[in-house]
Amino acid sequence: MNNKHLQLHAKSINHPETFWAQAADSIDWSSTWDCVLDDSNAPFYRWFAGGKMNTCYNAVDRHVAQGRGEQIALQYVSPVTDCEYGISYRELQAQVSRLAGYMDSLGVKKGDRVVIYMPMVPETAFAMLACARIGAIHSVVFGGFAANELATRIDDAKPKLVLSASCGIEPSGVVAYKPLLDDALAQASHQVEHCIILNRSQCEAELLAGRDIDWQAAVASAPNIDCVPLESTDPLYVLYTSGTTGRPKGVVRDNGGHAVALAWSMKHIYDIDCGDTFWAASDVGWVVGHSYIVYGPLLVGATSILYEGKPIGTPDPGAFWRTIAKYKVKSFFTAPTAIRAIKRDDPNGDFIQGVDLRCLQNLFLAGERCDPDTLHWSEDTLKKPVIDHWWQTETGWPVAANLMGYAPVAVKPGSPALAVPGYQIDVVDVMGEEVAANESGNVVIKLPLPPGTLTTLWQNEQRYQDSYLAMHPGYYLTGDAGYKDDEGYLYIMSRIDDIINVAGHRLSTGRFEEVLCQHEAVAEAAVIGVKDILKGQVPLGLVVLKKGVTLHDEEINQQLIHLVRQEIGPVASFRLVSAVQKLPKTRSGKILRGTMRNIADNQDYKIPATIEDPATLDIVRNTLTRMGYADAHV
Ligand code: COA
Ligand code: AMP
Repeated sequence: MNNKHLQLHAKSINHPETFWAQAADSIDWSSTWDCVLDDSNAPFYRWFAGGKMNTCYNAVDRHVAQGRGEQIALQYVSPVTDCEYGISYRELQAQVSRLAGYMDSLGVKKGDRVVIYMPMVPETAFAMLACARIGAIHSVVFGGFAANELATRIDDAKPKLVLSASCGIEPSGVVAYKPLLDDALAQASHQVEHCIILNRSQCEAELLAGRDIDWQAAVASAPNIDCVPLESTDPLYVLYTSGTTGRPKGVVRDNGGHAVALAWSMKHIYDIDCGDTFWAASDVGWVVGHSYIVYGPLLVGATSILYEGKPIGTPDPGAFWRTIAKYKVKSFFTAPTAIRAIKRDDPNGDFIQGVDLRCLQNLFLAGERCDPDTLHWSEDTLKKPVIDHWWQTETGWPVAANLMGYAPVAVKPGSPALAVPGYQIDVVDVMGEEVAANESGNVVIKLPLPPGTLTTLWQNEQRYQDSYLAMHPGYYLTGDAGYKDDEGYLYIMSRIDDIINVAGHRLSTGRFEEVLCQHEAVAEAAVIGVKDILKGQVPLGLVVLKKGVTLHDEEINQQLIHLVRQEIGPVASFRLVSAVQKLPKTRSGKILRGTMRNIADNQDYKIPATIEDPATLDIVRNTLTRMGYADAHV
């Protein structure tokens, strides 16, 4: 066991203020903080209170000022448009300062919200940084979400401005974003003053006079604007993520703590410093994209790859490896599902042969549990360390990981290794008592959380407290269940709530159920996540139809699949649904989703003593078997 990791961890827990004050040296401050950790309003902790800085300055301008203007900041690689180019820190500064200048001329000021609904193009990063430059709070919405999900987020964030593009490019073809945006704005109660639209040649969008502004024209004539000094505690962004209800949670991230934590993580976890090339193959719509495509790499002056494509099919399963070799990527981060997709299409690793991967030092995996098969295949094929690490939208950066830039520890398959400095992870039972090593329980983190983690939920402090802090006072509830082994290695095994993880995308079964119940034939619905060999989990819906419905089952199923795609979006990957006569419930009316999930996945389960009608479990089992689950696997 590597003592250096444990010693650093102990230091961060015993002397958090000294630890994080030292880490804060990596950031340029326009004025220093009054206190490192302000706990005067606990449990709303604030890091570097009183300090002033600007995240965009730290991610862009200071690198130019320090003579690294010609270094590539963002390397755009887009196999789906057959386009690749690099953007230097100097060009990035010019693009961002003009876009920010234009936003300022539209009246967007510090604290105003700006929604960004865009594909994986460099302009998306420009938009985020331009907001950061003037203190506007960005809220990026993933492009795979439907108009209705975008409308919900617009109504919650109440943006003054929306930045979008005419389209995204998916392997299935061009996805027009503008009609989705128009639809969302029509559905939302909140009125947006302006939309800046990036017209892409693959699908030009018509602009609405008076509201829509052409991106290129706007930026061409805009004045440059300087970075505005912000309070460390001012919000940088709101990122919506799935909660257990249909209403997404707006995770709020501050400026100062976020910059300090990300810079620390780049060096200590990912082993990335100024001048290195880092690639997180994710999407800016997710937290991985926020932290490790845009902010993290730029904060340390690295080059970040911004990839518009998939692991397979764009054009083949060798695309990742060739990109790593071409741009000399030192650390690469993706989701296990991407590796499973590559493994499926290239089981023997033929596409790696002849590709010079000497530059690559580590492959990092996160977003979902990394099954040992995926870990071993990656290790055997790449012959590089494969590092599972665990975190979530709320934390913004890794909670458990192997510190590859400081003191690597041995890899244990199925474990994201040890608690990262700053996080005191405990595993507790329902009463909040710590369980013994190797025993499962709720994974919680002792307060205060380190810098860079969520400060609250947007405009909803109560929900923040209820969701995360109420169950085990003094601790943050991660929503994950797992255990620690005798050496303190953590194993994350499942969620304790109704969140599912589909291809590394976090989705709420509650939201699926809401949508299914909108169908006029549906009386009741239950959605569970079932195991999927490629995506880890996929959603499966069981619906009880209203009496007297005359439509054929298959017709209803198709309508329900279409409805979910239309209301949640293609990212939902909803293809499995069936009618059942009755759902299994407790006598108090709670649907037994966990039991159904165990039946579907062929896991052991106990018939709950409180079940209302045990025969319903047979009904569900028969249906699941017909759908290819439950006993069908045996
Ligand atoms: N804009 C519009 N549509 C999008 C989209 C976007 N940004 N991202 C995904 N979609 C669509 C896809 O086109 C697909 O639509 P389809 O049903 O018409 O085919 C649907 O949403 C599901 O997409 P996806 O989850 O990507 O599944 P897939 O079957 O197309 O590809 C994988 C499977 C494994 C290759 C893919 O899921 C993948 O690359 N996963 C990596 C996961 C990842 O990076 N996660 C980020 C968290 S770290
Ligand atoms: P998200 O907020 O979308 O990043 O999803 C976070 C959730 O994904 C976590 O709470 C876990 O349930 C799951 N997750 C992420 N990384 C891992 C990992 N390395 N191992 C197990 N589960 C993970």
